[in-house]
Amino acid sequence: MRDLTSDTITEAVISTMRDTKDPRVAEILESLVRHLHAFVRDVELTEEEWARGVDFLTRTGQMCTPTRQEFILLSDVLGVTMLVDSLSNRRPSQATQNSVLGPYFREDRPREADAADISGGLPGTPLFFEGRVVDREGAPVAGAAVDVWHSDSDGHYDVDVPGLDEPAMRALFRTDETGHFGFRSIRPSSYPIPGDGPVGELMSATSRSLMRPAHVHVMIETPGFQRVTTMLFPSDDPHLDTDPVFGVRQSLIERFDTYEADAGPCRGMTEVPYILLRRTFVLEPRVTD
Ligand code: BEZ
Ligand code: FE
Repeated sequence: MRDLTSDTITEAVISTMRDTKDPRVAEILESLVRHLHAFVRDVELTEEEWARGVDFLTRTGQMCTPTRQEFILLSDVLGVTMLVDSLSNRRPSQATQNSVLGPYFREDRPREADAADISGGLPGTPLFFEGRVVDREGAPVAGAAVDVWHSDSDGHYDVDVPGLDEPAMRALFRTDETGHFGFRSIRPSSYPIPGDGPVGELMSATSRSLMRPAHVHVMIETPGFQRVTTMLFPSDDPHLDTDPVFGVRQSLIERFDTYEADAGPCRGMTEVPYILLRRTFVLEPRVTD
């Protein structure tokens, strides 16, 4: 372990970890060291570049607070969050696919009854959501916990709407015996991911857009089935192909159909044109080992 060179240092570092007790920890650390060293060799990292990288990661950590997780945002924009999800949740194409959780889910959301208005009185195009939760065979899944949350028509979540003290545009529902849940709210808008930290610097250095396409987050949890953490995107959104966090899947794009106030299934329920969004969510059984 003396006089190590750029040719011998990788094996030397790995050999120091040979007594690692947990075999999975050993596997991960060995691979991490191999890939990290290979990366440094590949780009012939200079001392100045290494120092800049350390500074970037330091500031990423310093940016983190209980409500701001810059490291997860970094993972999101590097595609790691969606890659880990794809490897962990391989589902048949008929099953509802996952997307990113994002930073705006809140545990302290209100429980609401079917058809509740969760708009918090905020302005926007009325949106009626009719959801159904079924299993692989199409049988209804009753009693599932369904979380929904979304932004307002300016792209702000409730926590960022000035003067709004109560949760809005978020709620927890339970499916009924037919697997149904539903609510009324307003159409969400596209919005930028936070760009005022190190991740914003990375995005601007690489000329990437910060704009996420509009979406409604949905998370479904019930015993015996895999949890679904997903979102639905309107098919007419201009940002679908440049989502900075790679969360868009074709199967999660939906038509947000607009109806005149006196037409369609919700006629008479609004005085202005409204959107009706219908979606069936297909759950996969939980694999127990
Ligand atoms: C979101 O959709 O809420 C989100 C996801 C990843 C990063 C930022 C926001
Ligand atoms: Fe979101």
